[in-house]
Amino acid sequence: MLDTLERSLLCRQLAVFACVLALVAFCVLVYYRGTMDAQIRSELSTLADSVISSIDFDDGTGKFAGGKPDSIVSALPEESARSLSVLRLQWYDTTGHLEADKGHLQLRLPFSANSTFEEQAAPHALVLTRPAMMQNKILGWVRVARPLATEDREYYRLLFAVIVGVGVTLIAISIASRWLVHQSIRPIVSMTGRLKQFTADASHELRNPLMIIKTNTDVALKYAGGMRDGDREKFEAIRSAADDMSRMTGDLLLLCRFDSVGLVSSIHDQSMDLRDLCTEIGNKWKAAYPQIELQLNLQEPLKMTADRSEMVRLFDNLICNAFQYTKTGGSVSISGQRGRDRMLTISIRDNGIGIADADLPHVFERFWRADKARAFRESGSGLGLAICKVIAESYKGTVTIQSKLGTGSTFTVRLPGSPDNAPAS
Ligand SMILES: Nc1ncnc2c1ncn2[C@@H]1O[C@H](COP(=O)(O)OP(=O)(O)O)[C@@H](O)[C@H]1O
Ligand SMILES: [Mg+2]
Repeated sequence: MLDTLERSLLCRQLAVFACVLALVAFCVLVYYRGTMDAQIRSELSTLADSVISSIDFDDGTGKFAGGKPDSIVSALPEESARSLSVLRLQWYDTTGHLEADKGHLQLRLPFSANSTFEEQAAPHALVLTRPAMMQNKILGWVRVARPLATEDREYYRLLFAVIVGVGVTLIAISIASRWLVHQSIRPIVSMTGRLKQFTADASHELRNPLMIIKTNTDVALKYAGGMRDGDREKFEAIRSAADDMSRMTGDLLLLCRFDSVGLVSSIHDQSMDLRDLCTEIGNKWKAAYPQIELQLNLQEPLKMTADRSEMVRLFDNLICNAFQYTKTGGSVSISGQRGRDRMLTISIRDNGIGIADADLPHVFERFWRADKARAFRESGSGLGLAICKVIAESYKGTVTIQSKLGTGSTFTVRLPGSPDNAPAS
C-alpha cells in the first residue's frame, strides 16, 4: 500500500514539474518567435520605406523617371542591395501591373493591393506589400519579400535544445524526487509499521483474557441450576460479546498478517470443490434463516487448490451477509461457473436491503458499515468484506459488488481454478 502511495506521490510530483517545465518552454519559444517576427517585420518595413522614399517618380504617374525600373535597386541602401540575391523586390503600378522586379527569392504569392504582411509557405518567406503615396494619392506598390529559412533553422535548433533540456531536467527531477519522496515517506512507513505491530500484538494479547471470560461464562452457564433468570441473561450477553470480540481479534490478526506479508496463509495446496463448499455453507445459513429462500445454481465442478479454511471464511462471510441483510420472505441465490480462462466465477445474489451508490466505494473498507445495515442488524464489525477482499487477492482473484438500495446485492468472486476438472479428492 505504501509502495502505491510512494508511486502515486512521485507520479503527481513529476506531472506537476512536467507541466511547469512545459509551460516555461512554451513561453520561451513563443517569446523567441515573437521577438524574431517583430525584428523581421521591422526590417522589411524599413526596406520598403527606404525604397519608397528614394524612388524618383515621373510626374506622380507611378512610372519611373527615365523608364528605369532598375532605379529601385540603386535606391536601396548598400547592405540591402547586396542581399538582393536572397531578397525579392517588386514594384507594381496603380493598375497592379508589375513594373520592376529584382532579386532571386521565389515568390509564389499573387499580388494583392489589400495586404500588408503575408507569409509564404514554400519557400518559407515573409512578404510586405506597401503603397507609395504622394499627396494622398497612391502611385503604386512596393512588394518586398525576405526568406525565413535561417530563422526557421535557428528556431528549430532552439526547439530541439528546449525539448532535450526539458527531458534531461525531468530525468534529474525524477531521480531527485524519488529520493525525496522516499525520505519523506520513511517516518510514515515506520509509524504504520508500529501501528500494525501494535494492532497485531493487541489482538494477540486480547485472545487469552477473552478465552478466560468465555470459558468461565460457559462453565457458569453449564451449572446455571440455581441462577436467577436475569443473571443467566447477563452471562449469555457476556458470552456473546466475548464471541464477537474473539472473532474480531482473529479478523484483525488475519488482516495484519496480510498487510505485512501480502499473503493470508502459506498453505495453498488443498484441493477442493467450491461447488460443495458453497452448497454446504448455503445450507448452513438456510437452516439458520428458514424464512429466506435459497437457490443453488452450481451445476459444474468448481475445483481449485487453496487453503480450505480461507475459502470457508471467504464464502461464509459473503453468504452470511446475503442472509443477514435480506428481509424475511426474501431469497438468496448462489451460482457458479468455470470460464474458458480457468477462472471460477461464483455469484452470491440477494434481494435484501442493498447498498446506496454513494456507499459502494466503501464496502471493502475496514470497520465500515452502512447506516442502513446498522439499523437493520445491530451486531457486526465491518471487517468481513475487507477479509474477503484480502483472501481473494492473495489468490490473485477478485471480489466485486453490484448493488441497488432497496433492491438487493450481488457479490461476484473470481478465483483461479485447477487445470483439471476431475472430482476433488
Ligand atoms: N449482502 C449485503 N446486502 C447489503 N449490505 C451489505 C451486504 N453485504 C455487506 N453489506 C454492507 O457492507 C458492510 C460490511 O460488511 P461486512 O464487512 O461483512 O461487515 P458486517 O457484516 O460485520 O457489518 C455491512 O455492514 C453492510 O452495510
Ligand atoms: Mg458480514
